[in-house]
Amino acid sequence: MKLGLGTAALGRPQYINVRLENCDNSDLNAFRNKSFAVLEEAYNLGIRYFDTAPGYGLAEELLLDWLLTKDDKTIEVATKWGYTYTANFNPNATVHEIKEHSLSKLKEQWNFSKKLLPYLKVYQIHSATLETGVLENTAVLEYLSFLKKEHHLKIGLTTTGTNQVEVIKKALDVLVDGEQVFDLFQVTYNFLDQSLSEISSELNLQNKSIVIKEALANGRIFSNKKYPHYKEMYTSLEKIAAQHNVGVDAISLKYCEQTITNAKILSGASTTHQLKENLKLNDFLLSNNEIEILHSFKVSNENYWSERKKLEWN
Ligand SMILES: NC(=O)c1ccc[n+]([C@@H]2O[C@H](COP(=O)([O-])OP(=O)(O)OC[C@H]3O[C@@H](n4cnc5c(N)ncnc54)[C@H](OP(=O)(O)O)[C@@H]3O)[C@@H](O)[C@H]2O)c1
Repeated sequence: MKLGLGTAALGRPQYINVRLENCDNSDLNAFRNKSFAVLEEAYNLGIRYFDTAPGYGLAEELLLDWLLTKDDKTIEVATKWGYTYTANFNPNATVHEIKEHSLSKLKEQWNFSKKLLPYLKVYQIHSATLETGVLENTAVLEYLSFLKKEHHLKIGLTTTGTNQVEVIKKALDVLVDGEQVFDLFQVTYNFLDQSLSEISSELNLQNKSIVIKEALANGRIFSNKKYPHYKEMYTSLEKIAAQHNVGVDAISLKYCEQTITNAKILSGASTTHQLKENLKLNDFLLSNNEIEILHSFKVSNENYWSERKKLEWN
């Protein structure tokens, strides 16, 4: 199964994306139960890779509770460190998360995340950037290498922004005791931001794992009057989707699967309905011609990420 489940929208009642429908997540208990049901449905539908983070509100705790109901060595959990969730489930919060790439934050968050062992297989720096200096922080890198050996983890990082490829290249050169630290890269990729394709062959060559996030461009792939410049894209996408009898979400996920070799793709579904729709990527293949059409929707990195920055927590 190429699809994994991301838990960002399952752990935070408010999330950065284009919400097409208003959802009332004010009852935290009901929100939690709904999210738990999505995890269970994902498992029943064959998903075994679950991506989470302390920055995703109650997601890590929810996953821990859910894992207690399972005894299955094929389940793999990936978590992260580096963001602290600060919204306290308040929709009007002004600050939803705080980023900190220090050794003390790593140790503090590891102290909770280690409860996900033995299912925990991947430990990632959440949104590694050149600015935070995390790829030059010897103490942090040595601690990550120690955790890798001690718990047989893959060490990864996630990238966001216009210079994803630059960050990945720099990370490939990071060594501790003569060995590369990073085994896995979680990267934003979709037909609007195709920059991962510049480095995916090299990652495969070096035997690195690739995980794709934001495959639906945070909801921007769905027809939306707020994005008139995508009007032609919406028309083409809907035509291809109709031909395969699926939604545009499955088309976008399939594009990622067929254009990046050996990648896991994260579904960001917030409901079981969305998840089932996403999973339709397993029912068809895109033709070369269709892939060419999707390739043509590429926008510049600057435009992609400036539009992404304007998305709100909703
Ligand atoms: N490391 C990082 O910095 C980082 C950043 C972002 C994401 N991630 C990871 O990647 C995962 C996926 O990314 P993402 O959720 O941000 O982006 P995404 O997959 O591009 O977008 C997900 C959103 O698309 C909507 N959606 C999905 N299927 C749909 C359907 N069939 N019909 C209508 N709407 C649909 C949902 O919006 P509604 O909920 O509004 O309905 C959902 O929240 C996350 O869960 C997380 O694990 C990591």
